[in-house]
Amino acid sequence: MTKVAIVTGASQGIGAEIVLAFRKLGYRVVATSRTIKPSEDPNILTVAGDIGDPGTAQRIVSEAVTQFGRIDTLVNNAGIFIGKPFTENNIEDYNAVMNVNMAGFFHITKLTLAEMEKHSSGHVVNITGSIDNGISGGHTALAALTKGGLNAVTRVLAIEYAKKGIRVNAVAPGVTDTPMHSKEHHEMLGSLHPLGRIGKASEVASAVVFLESAEFVTGEILHVDGGQSAGR
Ligand SMILES: NC(=O)c1ccc[n+]([C@@H]2O[C@H](COP(=O)([O-])OP(=O)(O)OC[C@H]3O[C@@H](n4cnc5c(N)ncnc54)[C@H](OP(=O)(O)O)[C@@H]3O)[C@@H](O)[C@H]2O)c1
Repeated sequence: MTKVAIVTGASQGIGAEIVLAFRKLGYRVVATSRTIKPSEDPNILTVAGDIGDPGTAQRIVSEAVTQFGRIDTLVNNAGIFIGKPFTENNIEDYNAVMNVNMAGFFHITKLTLAEMEKHSSGHVVNITGSIDNGISGGHTALAALTKGGLNAVTRVLAIEYAKKGIRVNAVAPGVTDTPMHSKEHHEMLGSLHPLGRIGKASEVASAVVFLESAEFVTGEILHVDGGQSAGR
């Protein structure tokens, strides 16, 4: 039977590359974001909505099951970055980041794991960030608060669901060339990475594809960060 992957934050950047990568593997894909448009590919079902809203998560999962019959893989990719000095973050900033990065993980992962449990197999990949330790001169506290939490819950859920045949992994990118960071900063941001450049969205997608095939890997945080986390 054809496998099915859900990819959140799929309209652009890393998410759009992950959708392409799963189609190359022959999967059917449920692609979601607020502004996503219908696809001409009959094997890509798009669902538009705010991923922090539990109703959106419910629609995505029920559409996946109704239209494609099963869910094999969930890629929690939707995320936003607000890079202000910590004391300048206001309540709207905090709520916005918590809504996408945290609630956007929580609602859909709960519903998807419940579906996966029914057939005792599945794989969840969280796109987190190589951010837990801070970057000198950077303003990454809200990113660390949320992505650090996702790295931790990746390990916890990997253990909790291992006996149920479900794997849970994360890919932690360094700065990646997507609309998230404006081009004028790319060279400076590249210099923060030992390999001397920022990453490509396709390089993050390749890591997700590797984890998808790595049947004995669970609870792993795979850094795709040009060496940024090495030695820490
Ligand atoms: N780029 C980097 O340097 C970098 C580094 C480390 C980690 N990451 C992580 O990688 C992931 C993808 O980042 P990216 O660089 O590809 O970002 P991006 O280009 O800004 O794309 C973000 C995606 O998330 C969707 N999204 C945003 N808010 C949403 C909401 N409320 N509800 C549903 N979807 C929403 C956007 O679509 P709509 O606007 O249509 O909703 C878009 O598809 C994120 O989790 C990010 O934190 C990125």
